[in-house]
Amino acid sequence: MDFRPGEVILAPLAGYTHSPFRKLLRRLGADRTWTELVSADMILRKGLSDPLLRFTPEERPLVIQLFGNDPEKIYRAGELVAQELKPDGLDLNLGCSVRKVASRGAGAGLLRDLARLSACAEALVSAGKAHGIPVSAKIRLGWDRDILGKIAERLLAAGVSAIVLHPRLAVEGFSGRARWERIRDLVTLFGREIPVIGNGDVLTWRDIGRLFQETGCHAVMVGRAALKNPWIFEEYHKKQPLPKDVTARAAFALELLEEMGVFFRPETAGKKIKAFLAQLFKGIPGKRTFLPDLLTAPDYRSLTSRLKKLRS
Ligand SMILES: Cc1cc2nc3c(=O)[nH]c(=O)nc-3n(C[C@H](O)[C@H](O)[C@H](O)COP(=O)(O)O)c2cc1C
Repeated sequence: MDFRPGEVILAPLAGYTHSPFRKLLRRLGADRTWTELVSADMILRKGLSDPLLRFTPEERPLVIQLFGNDPEKIYRAGELVAQELKPDGLDLNLGCSVRKVASRGAGAGLLRDLARLSACAEALVSAGKAHGIPVSAKIRLGWDRDILGKIAERLLAAGVSAIVLHPRLAVEGFSGRARWERIRDLVTLFGREIPVIGNGDVLTWRDIGRLFQETGCHAVMVGRAALKNPWIFEEYHKKQPLPKDVTARAAFALELLEEMGVFFRPETAGKKIKAFLAQLFKGIPGKRTFLPDLLTAPDYRSLTSRLKKLRS
């Protein structure tokens, strides 16, 4: 995959990294964006009209992530997406451990069935190949034990063009710590054959540099930290912290709300942005004086005016 060495990528975060958010984050220095996981079955049932699959050119390079557990369905959904939407990459989700996904043998559920994992990866790779679109896989270390080497061998044999590693077990969820040393091990083992993208527990822009340095990974992917600090990419590129006071945060939220109002309809945007606002203002001194007011705003218009007051 044509990941430039040193890229810093916005991770898929279901419910947060929709098209408007990706667009603003590209402007704020994310080198590449990723959709949240989209069900191959859903695509085959409903077609490509779901907002999860919509994107604008400004979000490119953009990777569309699929999940599923039936190789044939993954192939057909992948083909349709590749042909009609022409993303810059397709990605197979092998890391999602939420019950709804994993208990059906999809996402991280595939880490328990390596034969099926191979078949699903091969299916998506051949769907991508037919349209010149590279295919990556986003993995964890294993389901309940670390079988990283085996997973990586399978993926390489299937022909994937890059591996994103969040180095925790699926059963760990987000507990414990991301074991960056396993990213380094993957680079040592396979880094000459395939770009390895390191992910997990980057909290500040300095951590991005540390992850590159400590593991030798090809690119870094940042998830949760981008919700609390959307400027983290720019800070890393400029190697300095940027102003992130309440005013700056309110200005960002307003811009996002406006974009979301156009993309989703104002009524939906006003509701959907609240989970993000809780993240954006988490740990900010004085948030008790204004956050409840934002989170209880009854509609788009009142939320807009409350954010404007906060910005000024
Ligand atoms: C709310 C939330 C939603 C997520 N959604 C996805 C997803 O759709 N696809 C995926 O591969 N990973 C998903 N992840 C995992 C992240 O992409 C990332 O691998 C993980 O959060 C570790 O990186 P971080 O420590 O930088 O957040 C999600 C994580 C969170 C917290």
